[in-house]
Amino acid sequence: MNSKPEFQQFLTEQINILEARFPLLLNPLKSPDILKESMLYSLNAGGKRIRPVLLLSVLHAAGKPLEAGYRTAAALELIHTYSLIHDDLPAMDDDDLRRGKPTNHKVYGEDIAILAGDGLLTHSFNLISKDEHLSADLKVALIADITDAAGPEGMVGGQVSDMQGEGKELTAEELEAIHHRKTGDLLSVSLMAGGKIAGLNEEDNKYLSLLGKHLGLAFQIKDDLLDIEGTVEEIGKPVGSDAGNDKNTYPSLLGLDGAKKKLDIHLNEARMNLQRIRHFNPVVLDGLITYIGERKG
Ligand code: IPE
Ligand code: IPE
Ligand code: MG
Ligand code: MG
Ligand code: MG
Repeated sequence: MNSKPEFQQFLTEQINILEARFPLLLNPLKSPDILKESMLYSLNAGGKRIRPVLLLSVLHAAGKPLEAGYRTAAALELIHTYSLIHDDLPAMDDDDLRRGKPTNHKVYGEDIAILAGDGLLTHSFNLISKDEHLSADLKVALIADITDAAGPEGMVGGQVSDMQGEGKELTAEELEAIHHRKTGDLLSVSLMAGGKIAGLNEEDNKYLSLLGKHLGLAFQIKDDLLDIEGTVEEIGKPVGSDAGNDKNTYPSLLGLDGAKKKLDIHLNEARMNLQRIRHFNPVVLDGLITYIGERKG
């Protein structure tokens, strides 16, 4: 299927809309200027905006208006950006470059960087809770799902296991569980949030969830590959950070070819589950799956 033009048009259009909204969401806050500046520094630095675009592409695929998705989509990008600011701190991965710019703590210091992360995280839930396009029940359901994915059972737990695994030899099962939690869960819940706002039925949600699991894992395998094979210019972050921190990654466990095979397996599984969702226009999501596998940054 040649899905490139429609997918690329959707991606560009939606990134433009989202990026125009970020300052509008944060600038009115009655917070210290340095905090807002630091939050917007990382949020505006660029990035692929995959999580919000995944949510919006589910609405698009289901033929629903996108407007009801924008605040939750922005909330997901705020959470993701907080996770990157904290992931780069000296106590964690200790990286100096992110989205092609000096990391938040390099510019604002560790104290403000930690608090900018805290601010982005907490404000994300404020955005959803005050969204006039969503019913009260839907808001509660979205917040419950997103906190499951981003919190101690999901991303935060995965980040802890990732740190604890440094310098140790993990099994393939252990590594897969870490990747699912530290990265897969937030990507997956981005799709599921789209499904919830679109009102998908139970069966379609089941396939969307499987699609999310495979796509989330594929995403982190590709990230691990780019940490070895990418260029600083293209990935906008240091190359070789994982080896430097003695991290467990798919390439370290399976070799480059083994990791690439795993990547293809999960991308294909993602595609198969996409095709199983009924009353769904798969073109944009199919393009996103291919992009995640082929991306250079
Ligand atoms: C990087 O995420 C961190 C991971 C979870 C692998 P992205 O690759 O989505 O980073 P940005 O948002 O494009 O900068
Ligand atoms: C981080 O994984 C996942 C997060 C929750 C931020 P990595 O540590 O591999 O992400 P990068 O490579 O620094 O973006
Ligand atoms: Mg990390
Ligand atoms: Mg990192
Ligand atoms: Mg990485």
